[in-house]
Amino acid sequence: MKKKNERRGPKIRALLLMALALTAGLLVTGCSRGVHKAQVKYLVGVSMADESVRWREVLREELEDSAAGLENTRFIFRNASGSAAKQKEDINRLLEDGIDLLIVTPTDVDQMTPVIARVYGQIPVIVMDRGVEGFDYTEFIGPDNILVGEQGAVLVEEIVDEAYYKGILEIGEASYISEERSRAFEKHVNKAGHYSNKVLLEKATKDAAEDKLMAHPEYLSGVGVIFAHTDTVAQGIRRALVRLDRRDIAVVVVDDSGDVENLDLLESGDYAALIECPTGGREAVSAAMEFLKNDTQPPQQLILRSTPLRAADARVYREKSERAGEAPAELEIHMGYVQIDEDSAFRVANTTSILNTAKREGIDVTLAATEPDLASQEAQVRAFIREGMDIIAVSPVVAEGWETVLGEAKAAGVPVILCDRGVDAPIDLYDCFIGADYQEEGRKCADWLLRERIGTGQVQVLELLGTEGSSPARDRHAGFMEELDKDENFVVCASLPCDFSKEKGKQEVAAYLEENGLDFDAIYAHNDDMALGAVEALEEYGVMPGADVLIMSVDGTRDALKALRSGKLNAVAECTPLLGPAIMEEAREILGGNTRALKILTNEQFFTSSTDQELLSGRGY
Ligand code: AHR
Repeated sequence: MKKKNERRGPKIRALLLMALALTAGLLVTGCSRGVHKAQVKYLVGVSMADESVRWREVLREELEDSAAGLENTRFIFRNASGSAAKQKEDINRLLEDGIDLLIVTPTDVDQMTPVIARVYGQIPVIVMDRGVEGFDYTEFIGPDNILVGEQGAVLVEEIVDEAYYKGILEIGEASYISEERSRAFEKHVNKAGHYSNKVLLEKATKDAAEDKLMAHPEYLSGVGVIFAHTDTVAQGIRRALVRLDRRDIAVVVVDDSGDVENLDLLESGDYAALIECPTGGREAVSAAMEFLKNDTQPPQQLILRSTPLRAADARVYREKSERAGEAPAELEIHMGYVQIDEDSAFRVANTTSILNTAKREGIDVTLAATEPDLASQEAQVRAFIREGMDIIAVSPVVAEGWETVLGEAKAAGVPVILCDRGVDAPIDLYDCFIGADYQEEGRKCADWLLRERIGTGQVQVLELLGTEGSSPARDRHAGFMEELDKDENFVVCASLPCDFSKEKGKQEVAAYLEENGLDFDAIYAHNDDMALGAVEALEEYGVMPGADVLIMSVDGTRDALKALRSGKLNAVAECTPLLGPAIMEEAREILGGNTRALKILTNEQFFTSSTDQELLSGRGY
């Protein structure tokens, strides 16, 4: 009979060995099973759609590298290998592990949208690579795949014009991203009169591309250029073109892995042109930690810049990429801000946010509020260039006519951030747009009205237009009409030019009532000031605003939300003017050499009379 402690010896040893194995398992595989929240302060789960293509391997590497040095933080990864069922299971397991935030590249948009919305109800969610339906997530980070398709078409058309054969072949995969890129590509290419054919692979791998072309060399008949939707596919294409002795065919590649060898292949002529498409891994880690540590509301979307490159661009692009990184915090920054001189609650809040944030961040901002016209704003940009500003930010009063002065800023090496309003100029003439999705604001207002008045017969809408030629006025109109046109009973009876002004809103509506009487059921105002002007005109005419006439508006200013609470307005789409933090952070990124963000779109609420009162208070403007 063994002594008591002897009897326990083997058992204790076995337990120790098991504990050792478990710990080793956790450390080696990074497996989260059993990782308790208590062991780290921030536990971030990453659900990858799959890792079978190079760019997703690179995304994981970028996420891991960016997360590696973070204190008290662990990133745990799950790979769904292309299966939506497995991704759902992976996400459930991550939730069981107690993650504080989920980063997800969705497998199947339809299946994953409700799953992501459910998780978003519990913890923050960053969606990457392909979007989901709606906006039930914290932030989307990824490229604009429609732009990628258009950029591909421009490059392909340049090259096919010089090629002997005029045929264009697209090779991608049967996936959401490829379809988005392809739709834009084909729309542009067919417009140019070139014919194009398309091959969609089951899996966007090297072998799949090579095997497909080797099995169907006839696909290459009459082809002068191939547009490859990913660099992985392009590598397989190249191998097939060598074997089929068709190296006369030019290859344009979307490089979404950022592998340096792709720039080498561009320089050597193996690739005729490249579209650089960053994965966004670094941005996702930065956004995740910003949200977890500071609970700051991140933008709704961070659209990454895709950059067309030709052989001559390769060296400069490589050097720029090697330099990229966040500007040192102590970097002294002098910013020139060209503001719109406008007497509105929105504009006051916008300027206050810019100046207060700059002061807090130690960025020296010279803000000039010019006459609200292009010429005055152009003159101010030129003055800032002469004064040697490190960076210029502009709220462009109108969208047209900016190419010349933006070209001058670019030639002078002064980066430009567009704030709050966009311009119709090539994206290589400015560094980033920070503002709202104005079309979505218009859609939200129309969607609300359709739901509110559906089935009540004809609904006549009086539209109050913002500043003529400005991107918010143009886009809010477009978004509103896109939705409203879904029901022929809803009609815009008149669109009155009110220039975002309360006084003009009141004048125009009063004059309209005098001339036509109350022949409309609703008012859609492109901003709160005009809506509040309309409220006064209606009251003076003896009509109950918000009751006899439904009123929708955009911005979400204090006075508008007060009118909403009192029932004089019915629905307000938020368009936040509080852009200071995003502008200053992006200025630091750009001056640090990182120009990966093309658009930063703010997070926007939609308020109605049933909105929870606490949501309406303490919003800062
Ligand atoms: O550019 C945004 C618009 O500018 C706001 O909606 C409006 O109030 C301001 O004039």
